[in-house]
Order: sequence, then C-alpha cells, then structure tokens
Amino acid sequence: MDSKRMEDGGDVASDRLFNRTLGENYDRVDYAPGVEPRLEHERLLGIGALFGCCPAGRDVLDLGCGWGVPLARAAAMGGDRLTGLDISRRALAQAEARCAPFGSRCRLEHVDLLDVRPEDLGTYDLVYNVGVYYVAPEAVRRRLVDLIGRCVGPGGIAVVTYYAGPMADIRERVYRLLREASDSASSPSAAVAAARSGLAALKQQIQQTTWKDMLLEELDRIGRAPDSLLYHEGLNSSFAAVETLVLAREMERYGLHFLAYSGPGPSLSVPSSSTRAAAASTYDLSRGGYRYAVFGKPPGSAFDIRTPLVTWQASLTRTLQPDGSVKYVNIESGRSVVVTRPAIGALVDRLVAGPANWQQLVAAAGTAASAEPPAVEAQSALTKLWQ
Ligand SMILES: C[S@@+](CC[C@H](N)C(=O)[O-])C[C@H]1O[C@@H](n2cnc3c(N)ncnc32)[C@H](O)[C@@H]1O
Repeated sequence: MDSKRMEDGGDVASDRLFNRTLGENYDRVDYAPGVEPRLEHERLLGIGALFGCCPAGRDVLDLGCGWGVPLARAAAMGGDRLTGLDISRRALAQAEARCAPFGSRCRLEHVDLLDVRPEDLGTYDLVYNVGVYYVAPEAVRRRLVDLIGRCVGPGGIAVVTYYAGPMADIRERVYRLLREASDSASSPSAAVAAARSGLAALKQQIQQTTWKDMLLEELDRIGRAPDSLLYHEGLNSSFAAVETLVLAREMERYGLHFLAYSGPGPSLSVPSSSTRAAAASTYDLSRGGYRYAVFGKPPGSAFDIRTPLVTWQASLTRTLQPDGSVKYVNIESGRSVVVTRPAIGALVDRLVAGPANWQQLVAAAGTAASAEPPAVEAQSALTKLWQ
C-alpha cells in the first residue's frame, strides 16, 4: 500500500498516526455492515440474564461504532442514552443519518479511542466493541480493556469480537504474507488485487502434509471475504488473533466475568468466569473462528449459573403450524419463535405455563429426548425469547 499503509510503530505518536490513517482508510473504502443476529441487543441481554446480569436501564455505548447499526437497533428498542465513538468521519456520517430519528438520545463523536477516558463517558448497560480490538495497536487494545472494564455499569454487559483459535493464528500469518505481496500497491483496489494474487500463489505452494486440507480451507475462507474486509483487516499490520482466556483474565481485573459466546460455543454450566473462559479457549483449540464474546458484571462477587437467580416469564401464545412445528408469539413484544426441536418445545411450554427459574426450565428441556445437553438447549431457546 502507498502512503496510507499502516505501520504499528509502538509509541504513542506512531499509534495516533496509525489510528488516523486507519480512520482515513475507512473514509476511503466503505465498510458497510449487515444486521448481525449475534449482536442483537435483546439476545445479549438474554445471555447476561442467564448469568445474573440484569442491568436497570438500556443505555448503550459503542466503541468503534462504524455505521451505527447496533446503536440504531438499540435506540429502536428503547435505549435512553446511546453513545457511538469512531475515528472515521465517513462512518460517523452514516451513523448520524441512521440514528437521526432518535434525536438527542444518540450522541456520536469523532474521536481516537486512545484519547478517551472512562470518566468522560460514565457507565452503560451494554457496551459494544465490534470489529476493532483485533485490528488495533496494543496501546489501543489496553485502552479498550480499560474503557470496557470501567464503563460497564453494575449488572451490565459487554460484547467484544475477535478471531480465536489456531486458524486465527494461521490467518494472522497469512495476512502478514499478503501485506508483503501488496506492499508497493498504489491504491486500495490495487492492494486488494495484489493480496488476492498473493493468496492464489500461496495456495499453489502448500505442501502435501496432514495440515494441507485445513490450510487450503482457511485460505479459501480468506479468499471469499469481500474486498473491504480483506483491505481493512488483512492489510492492517495490527491484526492479531486473540485468546478468550487471556482477554478474560484482563477483564476480570475490572470485575467483568466472561459469560459466553453469542452464537455457538461450549456448554457453560460451569461456575466461574475463568473456567468458562478456559472452556471457550479449549473449544477454540480444535480450530476456532470469529467470536462474539459476551462479558458481564454480575452484581454479586461470585455467580453460579446453576443457582436459580433468574426467574423467566413471558406472555406467550402457542400455535401448532401445518408442518407440525409450533410457533410461540410473545404477546407483549410481538417477537415470535418457531420451535421444531422437542426439548425446546418442552422448555417453552413450561414458560407458557408460567414463570420458571433456570433449574425448572432445564428440567423441562431434559424431559424430551435431545442430542444436546438440556442446559445448551435452554440457553439457545431463552436467548431468542428475551425481550
Ligand atoms: C470493522 S469496523 C466495525 C464498525 C462497527 N462496530 C460494526 O460492527 O459495523 C471498525 C470501526 O472501528 C473504528 N476504529 C478503529 N480504531 C479506532 C480508534 N482508535 N478510535 C476510534 N475508532 C476506531 C473504525 O473507524 C471503524 O469504523
């Protein structure tokens, strides 16, 4: 890449320069996100509730808010105070347009996260840090942990995304080689084209070993990424794989517990943040992937998911569908879920009958034959229904 190439120099001045260049790159090449169900505000709050995190309000902070998609969704769901920070003027202009209908409830600011102090922000019920941590220089990563650690209020939740596991380590190495291949390109599109030919050349050179199929699969996955992702992520010299256990240790210093991945993950019926994080990193060891890690600040010092702190209740109607599945509609929110699996059906039927705590729900799910452990079934059903 040309003058816009980002070098992670390691001191504050070069970190600021790196961040400014990164922001300009987001101004030059659009990063237009879609709606991601794993980031849905109600789903994250649902995961939090499973671990005793029930924030009083719906205030949301987005560190690196981009085009403001989760913020606007949270505003539509009723958040009172919504703050988005980003270093790209182009991304912020998009976020402003998207959040305009919500008026003064949304505040968007053009800023380098390196220059933000937790005391300037106050505390929030839900903090997003999506698509930022693993492409930021180390000083920004440290600042992010501090901001997240201090800005999540009691009972609040944070979500941080990153690549974890051995395939993420491979990705980091591959990206380094692609940056080498695109070093002298004179524009973003030339850099991406050079990276794609570098990728094709790499594929030709993979040796016949036990790893070959796995490596080729990962190279194909990288190749399927849209140009904008390859540009902002693969050609970013700060890209780094992250290990959940390591990040969880840092978060624990602020009283933030690792709760679960939003999306597929290991069984989480284990009592402490560190054992859950170790289970998540063990799960990632087989190959890993892009993770949506949910952290929470439970009000008590220790929390055991098997302790029935949370009582679930929902006003649901149950309708049998022509294909034999059952549709449940939450009368208050209008949210619906179609259930085909017997264990989830049993669990939701238990909710239709009236409020229930965690143990009662897991017991209900356990009465129906199922391939998955009841606790996992319960978690996936409850997080969908949470409003
Ligand atoms: C991959 S995009 C993700 C945007 C949004 N969170 C989403 O998921 O759609 C990363 C965003 O983080 C912003 N960003 C990265 N480093 C930053 C920094 N040091 N200060 C402020 N914003 C930053 C970028 O400008 C960009 O808009």
